[in-house]
Amino acid sequence: MMISLLVNDRIFEVESPAGESLLSVLRRLGFFGVKHGCETGECGACAVLMDGKTVNSCVMLAAQAVGHALQTIESVGAHPEQGWKITPGLHPLQQAFVETGAVQCGFCTPAQILAAKELLDRNPNPSEEEARQALAGVLCRCTGYIKPVQAVLRAAAVLRGEAVEPLEGRLSGDEGIPAPADWLGGGEGGPEPDGGPLAPAGLPGRAVQTRTRLLPHITVTPETETWSSVGRPEKKVDAVKLVQGKPAFTADVEPRGMLVAKVLHSPVAHARIVKIDASRALQLPGVAAVLTWKDLPRVIYSTAGQSDPIPGPLDSFSLDQKVRFVGDRVAFVAAESEQIANQALELIDVEYEPLPALFDPAEAMLPGAPVLHDEPEYVNFADSDPARNLAAHIHIDIGDVEKGFAEADQIFEGVYEVPKVHQAHIEPHVVVTYWDEDDRLVIRTSTQVPFHARRILAPVLGLPVKRIRVIKPRIGGGFGGKQEVLIEDVAAHLTIATGRPVIYEYTREEEFIAGRSRHPMRIWMKTGVKNDGTVTANAMKALTDTGAYGCHALTVTGNTGHKSMALYVGDGPYRKSPNIQFSADIVYTNHPPAGAFRGYGVPQGYWALDRHMETIARALGLDPVEFRLKNALRAGELQPFSTAWSEGREPRPETIETCALEECARQGKAVIGWDQKYNNPAWHTVEGKPHLRRGIGTAMVMQGTALPYLDMGGASIKMNDDGSFNLLIGATDLGTGSDTVLGQMAAEVLGVPLEDVIVYSSDTDFTPFDKGAYASSTTYISGTAAVKAAEQAAERIRRRAAKMLQAGLPSGAAIDWQEIRLADRRAFAPDGRSVSLAEVAHNALHHEDQEQIMGVASYVSPTSPPPFAAQFAEVTVDIETGQVVVDRLVMALDSGVIVNPLTASGQVEGGMAQALGYAVCEEMRYDEQGAAREVDLTDYHIFQADEMPEMHTLFIEIFEPTHPFGVKSVAEIPMNGVAPAVGNAVLDACGAAVNENPITPERVWQSLKKEIA
Ligand code: FES
Ligand code: FES
Repeated sequence: MMISLLVNDRIFEVESPAGESLLSVLRRLGFFGVKHGCETGECGACAVLMDGKTVNSCVMLAAQAVGHALQTIESVGAHPEQGWKITPGLHPLQQAFVETGAVQCGFCTPAQILAAKELLDRNPNPSEEEARQALAGVLCRCTGYIKPVQAVLRAAAVLRGEAVEPLEGRLSGDEGIPAPADWLGGGEGGPEPDGGPLAPAGLPGRAVQTRTRLLPHITVTPETETWSSVGRPEKKVDAVKLVQGKPAFTADVEPRGMLVAKVLHSPVAHARIVKIDASRALQLPGVAAVLTWKDLPRVIYSTAGQSDPIPGPLDSFSLDQKVRFVGDRVAFVAAESEQIANQALELIDVEYEPLPALFDPAEAMLPGAPVLHDEPEYVNFADSDPARNLAAHIHIDIGDVEKGFAEADQIFEGVYEVPKVHQAHIEPHVVVTYWDEDDRLVIRTSTQVPFHARRILAPVLGLPVKRIRVIKPRIGGGFGGKQEVLIEDVAAHLTIATGRPVIYEYTREEEFIAGRSRHPMRIWMKTGVKNDGTVTANAMKALTDTGAYGCHALTVTGNTGHKSMALYVGDGPYRKSPNIQFSADIVYTNHPPAGAFRGYGVPQGYWALDRHMETIARALGLDPVEFRLKNALRAGELQPFSTAWSEGREPRPETIETCALEECARQGKAVIGWDQKYNNPAWHTVEGKPHLRRGIGTAMVMQGTALPYLDMGGASIKMNDDGSFNLLIGATDLGTGSDTVLGQMAAEVLGVPLEDVIVYSSDTDFTPFDKGAYASSTTYISGTAAVKAAEQAAERIRRRAAKMLQAGLPSGAAIDWQEIRLADRRAFAPDGRSVSLAEVAHNALHHEDQEQIMGVASYVSPTSPPPFAAQFAEVTVDIETGQVVVDRLVMALDSGVIVNPLTASGQVEGGMAQALGYAVCEEMRYDEQGAAREVDLTDYHIFQADEMPEMHTLFIEIFEPTHPFGVKSVAEIPMNGVAPAVGNAVLDACGAAVNENPITPERVWQSLKKEIA
């Protein structure tokens, strides 16, 4: 039927089939700022304003909007500089989102801005709580909400006509920042009791007052003092387009004649397909293709997006005659519309021969258990053994743990469990494929690994690598979920079959049943300790459920030991020769496959290790912080695992160059008020509420920075006529801000502001190779490549500038090009004379010894310098119900030099928010038949803006000498410490020792009951 919609003050007459959602129509009309994140009104990404009120367009029929005025992000503001045209520029809300770093992946940003606009249109002076409530309907998986809330309050101030100060420089806190008075339980100078102002929002002087802080505190390292771009809170290079809702994401295109793909998923956990008949589906008008296992070549591969050779078994086919989990692939459909594609799925006739299913990894390893992978094409990696359902096995011995146990005064043992949890990026997996005019297959996809995807897909599709082009547009979050070649083959096979463009986008339910997740594990700990607290030996054993396929099986669980058990080497003689053992079985079951998820196995390790360390400290009567620091790794010592294991490759010993863990602990303690609270009985109770108990807990963690001797990053840079530069990188910014920090490093080398560096990532046709975004490697590996490329360009500039400046000197005098300094868009001779970079570029491109000034470089690291952090948590527990409220999280990190305090603190805040879900509520569960219980964002709860605790980030900078700008990684480490710190705080509050996370009320209550019994 024809309907008439009023959108952004324009009338659109549009044909819309009955039942079509408003979201679908608006996107068909080209309003790509309205995003699809789910189908059931839970995420808020599709929000628009209808008559000034926020509505979720995915759960409204288009017809319901007739007669109402709709507003989308496209009408809110525009880029301020558009040639000769005068525009009003960005709306203050958009401006504030850009300035405060509220935009990470930017997928939720249009909806957040519209929700905030509704608030400010009716309430020009909202409190922080009101801002949080306004944003509560729009889920964000990246930011932790601090910066979006700050942005709303900042915009409100601007709209009221108040001055807000620019965000510049760094807040340094060399001596440690004391806890705010109310964090200590009230007192002078504290905040208003209603949740009003606590501290300036990271801004000097009077500005927006909020309880949360925008810029982190940084203990600044002296090396950074002279830099002009590195170290500054620069605006993200993609923020301006993202706040306007520009069509930057994979699905924001509509090639003519595009088909919609759908996948038939298995309803059973383990079965052989004995008959499959697609003829009825093919007869349905509008169906262009149906593919089953009979139609595709049988090519075995691994879906894990890792460097070659993939360190895991090859055990997957695009379509197979066997299904191995509820949600596994059975058939692919391409049709003219989503509706027809869904109808076609119901017309595919499948007969399954059920096979016994395995849901417990321990049972799956028993002799005689059914075998999941009996296909003859299976390719082993290392110790995988499909006959025993073993995807991988790890055994690492450092020193001699038995000797260490014998030398101990006490032995502590414990069993810990961690659940399967979901990445829950707000942009689902999505891919568009098409043949280009040269008959090359273009794959436009939301991936973290475009180059690995091309390499892995080529044999699967029967195409050489050179006939595939992978384009990675902006990514709406990934968190490891998109380090997987998960859906690209579906659309590509259908494009090959039909010759037409195809889009395949997961529904939210598909994300849960067919996407990847964090590996669940059961972990045994055994630790030997002297009575003075010296750890003499430490052993960890993990049993991992990899699900039906072994993607990332070896490497994720390897990291569980590698980056957690390495932290505690012991004290005294044990520092030089620690006794550590790690072993693991990674086992196939008929659950959906696990895969990469931010932290990559390490959060699992720290839940067990740090809960165990807490138990030991308390049993020995030692201060938990001092006990950890006594045994923790220090600078100058070997990363113990580097001597014994390297993901199946030859290990190469690595020395820890920098470690500021002690200072992290000192400053973190000061901010949370540890000394005033720990062991203070008065603080642990709440006046007038005898059922409540307060508790405080800590955890110390480390991570890695990139994979040494393996992963490579590349960058190229070229100079333009006006002295600006194009920086082309294969690295994939999935919302982390890596495009920005790589641009900052290049800008620093070239002596230009960041705005003169146009960053583009990534396209396998145009950008240099890069391993992609994983393993905390982009700033370190790809950043070094960008610095090297910039240095090459800088050398060409300085040589030419020396020649140009030579012209003004008396004959015989010479300028050494190495003395030319680049700064402020100019090249300076030692005598102070200078030429502009635009003049140098003109000279090079048009006038003398013409050349394109450019640089190309790549980098592989010989080391993986670990970042370290001290995590603190404060909780209130209701001992009658077991309910845990996390009140505060403080994280103090040594991540080396912080290139951009806004993006780095955004990573920490967002990581802590994700880790908080891991601590208290997120868990993927299955029924007896293996069907997922959580298939939407209602049952699988992720934190909303109005549910967050106070969070505080501190960076303790040390210059890491293995990187040109002294950086280490920051993106993954925030996942590691929150859950154990919360678990330890719950123990501190009420004595409930919960060894299985998440720490649900039921588990706390059960544990309390056990204590009483
Ligand atoms: S609420 Fe509409 S897309 Fe999620
Ligand atoms: S910035 Fe909010 S979902 Fe990514």
